[in-house]
Amino acid sequence: MNMRTRVGIIGAGPAGLMLSLLLSMEGIDSIVLENRDREGIESTIRAGVLEQGTVDLMTEIGLGERMKREGSVHHGIELRFDGEGHRIPLSELTNGRAITVYPQHEVIKDFIAARLNQGGPILFNVEDVQVSNISSSQPSLRFVHEHEQMELQCDFIAGCDGFHGISRASIPEAIQHGFSRSYPFGWLGILMQAPPSAEELIYTYHERGFALVSTRSPDLQRMYIQCDPQDDIANWSDPMIVEELQLRLATTNNWQLLVGPIIQKSILAMRSFVIEPMQYVRLFLAGDAAHIVPPTGAKGLNLAVADVRHLARALTMFYKQNRTDLLEAYSTTCLRRVWRAEHFSWWMTSMLHRFLDDDAFQQRMQRSQLDYTVSSRAAATSLAENYVGLPFTW
Ligand code: FAD
Ligand code: DHB
Repeated sequence: MNMRTRVGIIGAGPAGLMLSLLLSMEGIDSIVLENRDREGIESTIRAGVLEQGTVDLMTEIGLGERMKREGSVHHGIELRFDGEGHRIPLSELTNGRAITVYPQHEVIKDFIAARLNQGGPILFNVEDVQVSNISSSQPSLRFVHEHEQMELQCDFIAGCDGFHGISRASIPEAIQHGFSRSYPFGWLGILMQAPPSAEELIYTYHERGFALVSTRSPDLQRMYIQCDPQDDIANWSDPMIVEELQLRLATTNNWQLLVGPIIQKSILAMRSFVIEPMQYVRLFLAGDAAHIVPPTGAKGLNLAVADVRHLARALTMFYKQNRTDLLEAYSTTCLRRVWRAEHFSWWMTSMLHRFLDDDAFQQRMQRSQLDYTVSSRAAATSLAENYVGLPFTW
């Protein structure tokens, strides 16, 4: 069967769904193709931290209500090392900007409900998506849906299918430049049924490795500990995880972690990756399809949203004013912010983790960096403005 749309979007993650919502507000039709089922994408536990700009954009498009009710606004974070906590007052250092902790799967639920309410379409469970005629002005997407071979003719294709998707690989290798860095550690992430142990997120540097205390709701907490990325989660019993958290988070004034049953646990590897350019003819990559960051800076979802905001604006200018300049500038415009986030995420990761081969010199460098960051208003401001998110014009 043949179908037609202006913008064919691969992937119903934050990037693809936000793009379809922004385009719809401008009267530009799109179709989203997703290879998983709705239940699956609405229940995958991933990010938690939304930058001020992401929150503002969601509010602007009418999706702020549940986030305001159920999410929590944080005006600071704690950096903990040598058994002492040091608060970085994010809002005080950034003219009142803040972050909101609101889980990615709740964002996804809000986006899907809003898009289906507008009439969609979002096709779930599609198989074997392939980009065709990529070098022409009428590219198309071939895929299988409900056992039927389909072809979707498009003016433009948005590759929003995450790091393991197919769209990046559709760009001829000769014009792709990939930049990557892998890290010799991963994160073991858990969900624990317990009250919050702290009002703000705690990022901890400890000789046993990094630990992070985050939250999901008044009775569900999200925590991470640095671990071997090759380790099997089966090697980590619940009591071992709790003990490791307690050791790494211990303070000289006897801070207590509030503990309860662990209801979910998994290990994720981390790496940095960027592809340049983020565009080929009429295929535009956005979000994790084009770049990933280690999670320490909490930037991935926010970068995905920033990319599609630029893409939606460029496509709007094309359809409304016949302008191609913003489409041509898309990759350059996005990459400026992407590389800033790459640096910030690498910097936070390097400052807060133990490296396998680090020696006493390296550890003293990390301590000095932490000490400077929490003692100098200029250094703390630099962390704060990157963490809450630079303005959209970046
Ligand atoms: P994705 O969310 O990966 O969405 C891509 C979609 O495309 C998926 O639904 C996938 O099923 C679909 N797809 C893939 N291949 C195909 C195909 N061939 N055909 C059709 N569909 C396809 N970021 C933050 O900003 N803040 C945080 O606090 C944060 N914490 C994180 C913590 C963890 C543990 C992890 C793992 C990530 C975290 N991130 C965080 C990163 C964030 O989750 C991602 O950057 C974000 O999901 C990227 O969105 P996306 O839409 O680009 O890609
Ligand atoms: C969360 C994840 C992050 O990567 C981070 O830096 C802070 C919080 C979270 O899942 O809550």
